[in-house]
Amino acid sequence: MPHTAPRLQQIEPFHVMRILAEAQALAAAGHDVIHLEVGEPDFPTPQPVIDAGIAALAQGNTFYTGACGLPALREAIAGFYADRLGVHIDPARIIVTPGASGALQLILALLVGRDDEVLLTDPGYPCNRHLVSLFEGRPINVPVNAANRFQLTPELIAQYSTPRTVATLLASPANPTGAILQQDEIAKLLEVCSQSHQQLIVDEIYQGLVYESAHETALAVSQELFVVNSFSKFFQMTGWRLGWLVAPDWALPELERLAQNLFLAPPTPAQHAALAAFSPETLAILESRRQELRARRNYLCDALDSLGLKLLAQPDGAFYLWLDCSPFAEDAEAFAAGLLQDEAVAITPGRDFGQHGTRQALRIAYSQPLPRLEEAVVRLSRYLQRYCTA
Ligand SMILES: Cc1ncc(COP(=O)(O)O)c(C=O)c1O
Repeated sequence: MPHTAPRLQQIEPFHVMRILAEAQALAAAGHDVIHLEVGEPDFPTPQPVIDAGIAALAQGNTFYTGACGLPALREAIAGFYADRLGVHIDPARIIVTPGASGALQLILALLVGRDDEVLLTDPGYPCNRHLVSLFEGRPINVPVNAANRFQLTPELIAQYSTPRTVATLLASPANPTGAILQQDEIAKLLEVCSQSHQQLIVDEIYQGLVYESAHETALAVSQELFVVNSFSKFFQMTGWRLGWLVAPDWALPELERLAQNLFLAPPTPAQHAALAAFSPETLAILESRRQELRARRNYLCDALDSLGLKLLAQPDGAFYLWLDCSPFAEDAEAFAAGLLQDEAVAITPGRDFGQHGTRQALRIAYSQPLPRLEEAVVRLSRYLQRYCTA
């Protein structure tokens, strides 16, 4: 076996990708698979964005842009914060990146040295702990549960921080739970981070996809934190690979240097396309899709509840339900594998998202139209009857 770097021992596969591959194999064999496993809804990119992307290509906009992105796009993002969220951000503080993934890599490359610790929620978005390991830091997986609504608290940050803790990274709304943090909670988390000389990074990739409360950003609480966002989820541009971060002034020169070296520049046609993401026409399309997601969520919560699959977390945002399968199964992984084989419904077992309380947890993404969700519920009900009596 040729030599590979020791850090690879820390990087686990993304198990949902295995489920996706199995689901695709079943579909190729002629099965009607319902995909509720991957983190992207079925909506296509809004047409005005596609049109702007095609026009950009036709005009030959295929050369590198600056490392921090097109000035016009950085200004458009600043305009979005001002118009929609009432927060004024200097466009110079906005760095456009290849997805939120690129933004997370830049921030962690900036902050994390060997053996530095980063606090993360467990369960949480799995790539984060691997990214911390990639920079030779130590991901500290802090157990969260229903008692703290699956989010970090000031007490947890204080309890798990050590002199080596350089940052706390959280997401609101969160993956896999959909749990959100209120502004006053973010203020308290920031306070405890500042007291212990660490940075607070708030991943707002699901910002805009909230169903019970107003759209908010942690930037309204303070400008002294790092915020990550993306065109992937709310703007439905997953495959265009475009996101951004907002950083405090002091971090900008280093982040630009890192961006130049890591990525050279974010993808140019995608940046031109994204200029149309904030147009009133696109925002109207996105709002109607948000309403559609809310209807799907409400339907599925009720239907699953009556099947005996109870929610573990309040699904206030994103497009995920985090469910307890303990009345039916010891092991969510076997449960999900059986559901795929027997009924061709693909869902994600909790294990992908951490170690804490994940063995009997499932994530279901309401990423399909209502009639497909109804069909999924029929199949699930049949499966549960068989599974329970097996
Ligand atoms: C919480 C969270 N952060 C970041 C990402 C990365 O998204 P992207 O790189 O497509 O913007 C995801 C993707 O699912 C996510 O769920």
